[in-house]
Amino acid sequence: MTWRASVLTLFPEMFPGPLGLSLAGRARARGVWSLDAHDIRAHATDRHRTVDDTPFGGGAGMVMRPDILDAALSAVADERPALVLTPRGQTLTQATVRELAAGPGVVLLCGRYEGIDQRVIDARGLREMSIGDYVLSGGEPAALVLLDACVRLLPGVMGAAASAEEESFAAGLLEYPHYTRPADWQGRRVPEVLLSGHHAEVAAWRRREAERATRERRPDLLTAQAWAVAPPPPAP
Ligand SMILES: C[S@@+](CC[C@H](N)C(=O)[O-])C[C@H]1O[C@@H](n2cnc3c(N)ncnc32)[C@H](O)[C@@H]1O
Repeated sequence: MTWRASVLTLFPEMFPGPLGLSLAGRARARGVWSLDAHDIRAHATDRHRTVDDTPFGGGAGMVMRPDILDAALSAVADERPALVLTPRGQTLTQATVRELAAGPGVVLLCGRYEGIDQRVIDARGLREMSIGDYVLSGGEPAALVLLDACVRLLPGVMGAAASAEEESFAAGLLEYPHYTRPADWQGRRVPEVLLSGHHAEVAAWRRREAERATRERRPDLLTAQAWAVAPPPPAP
């Protein structure tokens, strides 16, 4: 069954963009997934095709109108989860990516300007998703990031299925470092164990390196994992 992505945007020409190339592009050509980008402006009702207005309460910038966005969502809504890209949202993780990739697809709403009238988010029960603690000028690059992460997990998209199981975040750890030929480059030698041919020792080394990198770079991932196994006792 085809995994279907619909994107609501003021800039449909930004899609498929990089997702038209490489793994994602070939998978789309084979019908593993589909992408349709819809112009929000097509749902504007006035002569100037206005989609935004000034914020109640004052302040800088413009806000995207709930009635226009609701009409745009109605045109594509079905059983798929509907998400809005926003820096106020839950940060996208590999666990969420796995969850979305296992479903029928996604409907993604991309904001512009100062953002989106909260009422359409509430009324539609949109899941608010951020790709990180920084501000983009629009939701489109965030939608491309989310879609890229989902599409590569769809069955048959990645060459070696095993690589998805070993890579960063799959087991709550960052991945171990990679090395290829030449074994000696500018005096820097590949770790000897990787040349040994001992599969068990290589696996143990990789596990140790993954744990070390995670401890040094992202100790928060280890804490999150420990919590998942044994939540802390409730405060007295
Ligand atoms: C200029 S931003 C609006 C930022 C908003 N005024 C704020 O401070 O939270 C315009 C649009 O870009 C998108 N966007 C910006 N940063 C994002 C992020 N980190 N993750 C997901 N979407 C983002 C959202 O769709 C947002 O509505």
